[in-house]
Amino acid sequence: MAGIRIVNLTKTYQINNREIKALSGINMEVEDKSFVTVVGRSGCGKTTLLRILCGLEEKSQGEIYYTKGDMIISKPKTSMVFQEPRLMPWLTVGENITFGLRGESPAVKRQKADKLLDLLGLKEFKGAYPHQISGGMAQRVALGRTLCYDPEIILMDEPLGALDAFTRQNLQGEIVKLFINKEKTVIFVTHDVDEALLLGQKVVILEKGSIKKQIPIDLPYPRHPDSEIFFKYRQAILREILGNKEN
Ligand SMILES: Nc1ncnc2c1ncn2[C@@H]1O[C@H](COP(=O)(O)OP(=O)(O)OP(=O)(O)O)[C@@H](O)[C@H]1O
Ligand SMILES: [Mg+2]
Repeated sequence: MAGIRIVNLTKTYQINNREIKALSGINMEVEDKSFVTVVGRSGCGKTTLLRILCGLEEKSQGEIYYTKGDMIISKPKTSMVFQEPRLMPWLTVGENITFGLRGESPAVKRQKADKLLDLLGLKEFKGAYPHQISGGMAQRVALGRTLCYDPEIILMDEPLGALDAFTRQNLQGEIVKLFINKEKTVIFVTHDVDEALLLGQKVVILEKGSIKKQIPIDLPYPRHPDSEIFFKYRQAILREILGNKEN
């Protein structure tokens, strides 16, 4: 169990002697076991934020604290789900799911894999290889692999971005069931406002590397995109994102 406190986080890249501020002065609180979505235009720094949190990238300035109640703790087990499933082509679906389990006995691995395969509707495909399953199924396997690894913090970078609308909707529903109100702290990046609203307990709007607004979403799950209140939230977020376009 862990919350994340991001203080004045800045990331600068150098391209051909030119400085690019991918993130500047990010201050953000992710409560323990909460599901936060980050939304914003292409290039606003969403992936950079997750890569820094995951440890794939160094920050330039600022601090990241992990908290448990009032205490600061060391970085907890963190896992990232990418836009593409990144499965091991030489391993079966079942083996991909248990990939992160080191030192567990084959029996324990089998038991954990079976439970998740069942949960994700992939039971019949346990022995299939990644090239034998669809994109939506592969992304399910990627979610299963993350769940099996059992991290406290899960970072998701547009994990449904490459999927068709139906599969995407399906998996959004599954993510609500699997991740929300569980013992996980999740940051989910998307450029899709409806997706951010369907999933997030808080929506963080990024613009050109800075936080434009953080909006708590006070709606129970499952959420309905055609409800009046959803519509109002959507308009509020779109206003924030599109507002500056006209300036
Ligand atoms: N490794 C890198 N080297 C130099 N610049 C980078 C690097 N990674 C990202 N950037 C720059 O940082 C900025 C933010 O990029 P980032 O990938 O975080 O955006 P994003 O919000 O994830 O965009 P998208 O929605 O297209 O995925 C961009 O201007 C990008 O060019
Ligand atoms: Mg990105």
